[in-house]
Amino acid sequence: MDFDCLLIADDGPVRTITVNRPDKLNALNQATIAELDAAFAAAGADPAVRVVILTGAGSKAFVAGADISELATTPAADLLAFARAGQAMMSRVERLGKPVIAMIPGFALGGGLELAMCCHLRIAADTAKLGLPEINLGLLPGFGGTQRLLRLAGRAATLELTLTGKPIDAARAHALGIVNRVVPATELEATTRALAGELAAKAPHAVRGILSAVLLGGEAAIDTGLDYEAQAFGVCAATEDMREGTRAFLEKRPANFTGR
Ligand code: COA
Repeated sequence: MDFDCLLIADDGPVRTITVNRPDKLNALNQATIAELDAAFAAAGADPAVRVVILTGAGSKAFVAGADISELATTPAADLLAFARAGQAMMSRVERLGKPVIAMIPGFALGGGLELAMCCHLRIAADTAKLGLPEINLGLLPGFGGTQRLLRLAGRAATLELTLTGKPIDAARAHALGIVNRVVPATELEATTRALAGELAAKAPHAVRGILSAVLLGGEAAIDTGLDYEAQAFGVCAATEDMREGTRAFLEKRPANFTGR
């Protein structure tokens, strides 16, 4: 698959998807959103891909938001469709059934923070800046930012970031629970790849079950969430990987999970 705005690279079971518009700080125009949707559909459908790393080209930005020049010139009715397309793409990422790690070297603003928040884990360089500055454009986040930040960091932090529009540094984002880890910029890639490699070696059915129980179950009443969890547990119990995992423990050796 050929993309104009993305780079795709595979390293064994880990696929890296890079938004590649560094001269625009990787801003999300409509074409990039459509390409991300297609790239994640392909990653979800490919059994050889166990983990995805999502990042932005260059050291300055993950993604600096929706493309403001496109926003400024697109008719209002089309911008509603744009918000819906961005939301649908980000929901696809969130529901991929495989871990997606956002590797954040620099600015993650507006649609960029929204994109990072639909990933399952976020690792930021200590130089990163995160925020939802849409208010300064007379807008609000339209790709799920009000909802995902609320769930990640609570109402006070969400209202502060959305109403002031002021970016926060990586350390504060970590303190608020928005990013999982903050590392020196020079260690960002190695740390992210080590985590991706670790997750790629886990049993895929168990990974899928955890993602589904946490993401879908977490949005439901607790009895429904507990039911998701029990159902996913039951599915895993019937896999060869579960037999392999328990046998490996008893034989005091590392497990070799095959996804069956
Ligand atoms: N959409 C379109 N273009 C963008 C962009 C965006 N969201 N963010 C940055 N760019 C472009 C700039 O226009 C500039 O292009 P140019 O060289 O053709 O003029 C280029 O990327 C570099 O950005 P620049 O502003 O010169 O870098 P900076 O270091 O001075 O500032 C930011 C960096 C991130 C603080 C600043 O670019 C910014 O505020 N961007 C917008 C963030 C935003 O509001 N995002 C939410 C959008 S909904």
